[in-house]
Amino acid sequence: MKYNQLTTCIYPALVWKVKWIKTHVLKLKSCHCWDLQMHCILHTGRFLLRNTYQRTWPKCCSSFSKMMRAVCVDKPGGPENLLLRNIPRPQPKDGEVLVKVHAAALNRADLLQRRGLYPPPDGESDIIGLEVAGTVDSLGPGVKEGWKPDDRVMALLCGGGYAEYVAVPEELLMPVPHNLTFCQAAAIPEAWLTAFQLLVFIAQVKEGEVVLAHAGASGIGTAAVQLVRLFGAVPIVTAGSLEKLKMAEELGAAAGFNYKEGNFAQGVLDFTRGKGANVILDCIGGSSWEKNVNCLAMDGRWVLYGTLGGRAVEGDLLGKLLSKRGHLLASLLRSRSLQYKADLVKAFSHRVLPYFSDQAASLRPVIDSTFNLEEIAEAHKRMEANKNMGKIIVNVVSQNQEISN
Ligand SMILES: NC(=O)c1ccc[n+]([C@@H]2O[C@H](COP(=O)([O-])OP(=O)(O)OC[C@H]3O[C@@H](n4cnc5c(N)ncnc54)[C@H](OP(=O)(O)O)[C@@H]3O)[C@@H](O)[C@H]2O)c1
Repeated sequence: MKYNQLTTCIYPALVWKVKWIKTHVLKLKSCHCWDLQMHCILHTGRFLLRNTYQRTWPKCCSSFSKMMRAVCVDKPGGPENLLLRNIPRPQPKDGEVLVKVHAAALNRADLLQRRGLYPPPDGESDIIGLEVAGTVDSLGPGVKEGWKPDDRVMALLCGGGYAEYVAVPEELLMPVPHNLTFCQAAAIPEAWLTAFQLLVFIAQVKEGEVVLAHAGASGIGTAAVQLVRLFGAVPIVTAGSLEKLKMAEELGAAAGFNYKEGNFAQGVLDFTRGKGANVILDCIGGSSWEKNVNCLAMDGRWVLYGTLGGRAVEGDLLGKLLSKRGHLLASLLRSRSLQYKADLVKAFSHRVLPYFSDQAASLRPVIDSTFNLEEIAEAHKRMEANKNMGKIIVNVVSQNQEISN
């Protein structure tokens, strides 16, 4: 309640009550001494009200300024259910850094979360968004790594990215390479750390091996192709259009197969002279299991990390896998422990990050398109229609604001 409301409602009520006591209970028609005492009591009351108000109102005001815009989903469903709201800013907890978000990037998982099919892990923000870039706003207690306000950072998140501020465990922050914008940097954490994890931690890819990456023009695919090249292996891809295959080849793919127009397994076998792919990065699952196992090399590693083509498998999967002595490995990143992710961030920062900013800049995040936070529904529609080649970025701080800062 505002001070004006306090004085206009409570104070007159107090005056009326005192007058009523004076005339009806104490039966005093007129007494100068009484009037004086009552005046002092009422004056004191007004003074206390004003002081209470003066102390609480600025607190109230500052709590309003600690609000932020964020994309909320009240009811799971289509892109129209993404609502921009003012909600309280998160407070950084022990070991966390509050990041002012300049840009966030979309991930396929965001579409599932919006539809209620991929809830955040327990205790994590229910705001969508797995990766951001921005600046350090403030530090929670116990932050050790030497981050300071205004440092340019990018972060892997369990959620909370579609917002103006997000609290991040310090272990999951990385410095933004100096030559990258916030939009480019926002395209790195989830997509590149996933691709790195699949190749290095899970498949343990070796020099000279052939790696087949499905969805070669996706966020993960564009990162995977470049990483396979960086590690001295040979990337080949599948994609659903000539345009997407061309872009994967520009990034370093040695061959590409349109899975909509032919049997990619035959293409892989032809390319490898019958040997097959040593590693398959598979985000498709059900619809292409048989082709995958048919073009897997002996002792190959088939890494399942998504099920865009369905989950059900019917047929002789186990028999075919056994005859190839194949390894079927499945992985999810978001549900991993903080320690696992911290190790991943450390390894990636050491082995890969320098290649975004070296002279030849051998690695580059691929940006498909950029939307403002207000246009988040349009961004989701684009991804849902499989139109993107590379990452879709959401500008949280508009370019104009960034320049004037
Ligand atoms: N396990 C993990 O830790 C983890 C982490 C991050 C992401 N992921 C998964 O990785 C996958 C890629 O994510 P992203 O954000 O990089 O995706 P993205 O940029 O949205 O690209 C996905 C692409 O996959 C292709 N696709 C869609 N449905 C398909 C189908 N039924 N068969 C064949 N291709 C299909 C489409 O390209 P075409 O035009 O070529 O068909 C689409 O553009 C998703 O499944 C996501 O859930 C997993």
